[in-house]
Amino acid sequence: MQWYEKWFNDYYLKVYQHRNNEDAERAINFLKEFLPKGNSDFKIFDLCCGSGRHSIQLAKLGFSVTGIDLSQALLDEAVRQAEAENVKVGFQKFDAREIPFENKFDFGINLFTSFGYFDNSDEDLRQLKAFHKALKPNATFVIDFINHGYLRKSLVLQDTKIINEMKVIQKRKIQNNRIVKNIIIQQDGEEHEFQESVRLYTLQELLDLCDEANFKGDFVFGDFDKSDYVLEKSKRMIVVGKKV
Ligand SMILES: C[S@@+](CC[C@H](N)C(=O)[O-])C[C@H]1O[C@@H](n2cnc3c(N)ncnc32)[C@H](O)[C@@H]1O
Repeated sequence: MQWYEKWFNDYYLKVYQHRNNEDAERAINFLKEFLPKGNSDFKIFDLCCGSGRHSIQLAKLGFSVTGIDLSQALLDEAVRQAEAENVKVGFQKFDAREIPFENKFDFGINLFTSFGYFDNSDEDLRQLKAFHKALKPNATFVIDFINHGYLRKSLVLQDTKIINEMKVIQKRKIQNNRIVKNIIIQQDGEEHEFQESVRLYTLQELLDLCDEANFKGDFVFGDFDKSDYVLEKSKRMIVVGKKV
């Protein structure tokens, strides 16, 4: 089993509980600048939607939203949340490389570093090509990815947090041009270990890959506040462009 098939479970939701609706709102405010006024004919695709925090807010704005993800646990949480908030979102389970949609969506998002997971960058390209295929010609896409320049400068090798009575130890290293994080969770005398491993694409590499998938990157931002992208300072690397 690959790391991304194991880690996105109920523990992930607890460890990343700060990545909640409020956090998602920053992204939504950014996205609004590229979106028309909410209308149910406008179809948004949330690639790797996780627990649906962005999908649900976009559906609340009146858009027709489809979110896909590989994690059943996170999709279940997404469905629960959507029902609790009384909004309709189409959540479905697919691998990001094997999305069945074609020319279907007006707008596509891939947020919070949901890219660069595969061992081989050809597989990352397959994900981009599947994303591209799902969108209508001239549709806008947004990819929000970790900024390797800032990460390399600010890397915290290890930290420990207590979250909901769990001790969470996170050990980070840069290895083979990837950020590799080991997450050790201790609770009630039990220990569970998970890993994250993400390829550290440079901006040029990401743009080149987009190009290969026939996406044209128009803007690059350094965060959801629309600040300029600065290699060693920006926390994020957000590419906005169009399907060619
Ligand atoms: C860091 S989370 C971000 C989730 C969501 N975009 C958010 O902002 O909360 C990455 C997501 O990618 C999903 N994922 C990982 N590998 C995948 C794959 N091969 N196909 C589809 N989804 C995948 C995970 O299950 C997880 O929900």
